[in-house]
Amino acid sequence: MKEKIQNILNEINEFKAENTETLENFRIKFLGKKGQIQELFAEFKIIPKEQRKEVGMLLNELKNKAKEKLFSEQKTFQAGAKIEKSNKDLSMPVDYIQLGARHPLSIIRNEINDIFSRIGFTVNEGPEIEDDFHNFTALNFPEEHPARDMQDTFFIEKDPDIALRTHTSSVQVRAMENSQPPIREIYPGRVFRNEAISARAHCIFHQVEGLYVDKDVSFADLKQTLFYFAKEMFGEETKIRFRPSYFPFTEPSAEMDISCNICGGKGCNICKYTGFVEILGCGMVDPNVLENCGIDSKEYTGFAFGMGIERITMLKYQINDLRLFFENDSRFLKQFKDAL
Ligand code: DAH
Repeated sequence: MKEKIQNILNEINEFKAENTETLENFRIKFLGKKGQIQELFAEFKIIPKEQRKEVGMLLNELKNKAKEKLFSEQKTFQAGAKIEKSNKDLSMPVDYIQLGARHPLSIIRNEINDIFSRIGFTVNEGPEIEDDFHNFTALNFPEEHPARDMQDTFFIEKDPDIALRTHTSSVQVRAMENSQPPIREIYPGRVFRNEAISARAHCIFHQVEGLYVDKDVSFADLKQTLFYFAKEMFGEETKIRFRPSYFPFTEPSAEMDISCNICGGKGCNICKYTGFVEILGCGMVDPNVLENCGIDSKEYTGFAFGMGIERITMLKYQINDLRLFFENDSRFLKQFKDAL
């Protein structure tokens, strides 16, 4: 019996399939219901008891070997068969696969996140549906401020007022409520305003808010941070200019312009021949806002800024119609494939 097993094992080890037929014959011969291994199992029943253990093990091993062989031959043989049949030139270049492209607004948002991350800002987020306190009251908006009007804000509920946030400044309120300084964060996200859709405005757009609160934070820190941002985003040659402005939540407040990156400051229709374009609002966080959020305004100061991602993207890629961002025309989107 042992000899028979050994002989079959040798035969199995030497076997090589030439085609599907020989492979099938192999299966029938060794592993079929009436195959040689099955026959041996039948014989096994009548061998002397003292040999059973050893022979049993050999038999099981043989069966496993046969199965392994069948399986491995099937694999190599099938792979080989495909190449043989298709007769393909494997050195030919593959067909072009159409990859998707990242949306230009996402590319610029990531770049903004990246630039501020390099100087110690962390990226955070807040809810798109906000209550009156976080969107307006904590930020020092007077009761009669026009932004609180239905004309400008999408309200979801009245009394208590729940609305789609009109700016990402609401997230700075949440951040200050939930932690103590130092806070150095940026908050990118979607915002909503009840505006007519045009080449320059949309009812949904994107902003990045920035906040830095600590001891002795000054306007010089604000200026230097934003100067660094502008140069990283638009290039070393970029000039910046601060103009006094007004926001309820900052005092003093400013708007920041950069030298027009389209005409290089010479004057064109994008910068309305001034050589400068506005990119963000900023200022020192009003002490009232710090106090509204539970931060001691005698101990801490801070600066904040807010910018529109659409605006930055339009300047960066020289896009002249904001609606293009939301139409999802693949001919437009495909152009940013390499800009990842
Ligand atoms: N929230 C303002 C807006 O939507 C932008 C802004 C201006 C944010 C000045 C600020 C800031 O943090 O200091 O127009």
